[in-house]
Amino acid sequence: MSSNRKIVVIATGGTIAGVADSPTDHTGYLAGQLDISHLVAAIPGLTQAAGALQLEQLAQLDSKDMDAATLARLAQRVAELLDEEAVQGVVITHGTDTLEETAYFLHALLAPAKPVVVTCAMRPATALSADGPQNLLDAVTVARHPGSKGVLAVCAGAVHGPLDVYKAHPYRLDAFSSGDAGPLAFVEAGRLRVLRAWPEGHAQRQLLALLARPWPKVAIVTSHAEATAWMVPALVAAGAQGMVVAATGNGTVHAALEKALLEAQQQGLQVRRAGRCAQGVLVEGASDAVPFFAAYPGLSPVKVRMALVLELMGSIGSLGQASVARG
Ligand code: SIN
Repeated sequence: MSSNRKIVVIATGGTIAGVADSPTDHTGYLAGQLDISHLVAAIPGLTQAAGALQLEQLAQLDSKDMDAATLARLAQRVAELLDEEAVQGVVITHGTDTLEETAYFLHALLAPAKPVVVTCAMRPATALSADGPQNLLDAVTVARHPGSKGVLAVCAGAVHGPLDVYKAHPYRLDAFSSGDAGPLAFVEAGRLRVLRAWPEGHAQRQLLALLARPWPKVAIVTSHAEATAWMVPALVAAGAQGMVVAATGNGTVHAALEKALLEAQQQGLQVRRAGRCAQGVLVEGASDAVPFFAAYPGLSPVKVRMALVLELMGSIGSLGQASVARG
């Protein structure tokens, strides 16, 4: 799998760099403790097998605490590396909890023609059978694979695309799913079995220059039994510029919440709809009376939130903050 071109491994923290007091402890650990040189050193022969590796420690956090500043630095750095001829691909070590958001964010911004492989672990590095070393090795294998490209998520031998991937299980090693779509590929004994085409997209690199500014405030509200309207004006009063409604079933919203959202939309709030179901795509039909809030078909609420952040960032960049803030 070796090549003259290098793979750059960027570490951001997560359970893959986590440390527990006991090797049998899978839950009471601290994420984001070990630096990337420790993680690579735990994989015998990786540097020989993988060819040139460049290691960078960009952050050291539990991904539940992922923030705009870290995402901005990550996107900038990945963009720089993708532009280097000597770089074949990038591997990012990341916590599992918000991995799908980072993967989608990088896909939406960069739509890379080289592989950008995000990987992780469900057990800390100190566990008796830690999964991080194999996942990291698999991620490098994917980044080295001829023709692989796009933002990819690698966990437990499966390779997922940025639009479909989501964390489906809080504990199992095989924690990620691509739902109906299924994985893009499997890594089997160091080789890739490719099932579907690599991800395509339209890069929005013009937004890179805007990432250092304060990000638009976008909240997620969930439609549920007994949903009420009160949180919509409260969020708007707190400065929300956009809202994603996690809708029931095939995109329906509780009447009370829908009324509040429609009123706020008329005042200039940007509202988008996403399905609350973990799998599938909202199916638009002729009988849909209300195309009330535009949907991003097939994207989960957290990814639609990221999409709307980028959408608003683009409008703010071209129109000026005030015009987007309240319509
Ligand atoms: C995190 O997301 O950083 C902690 C949990 C994990 O990586 O599994």
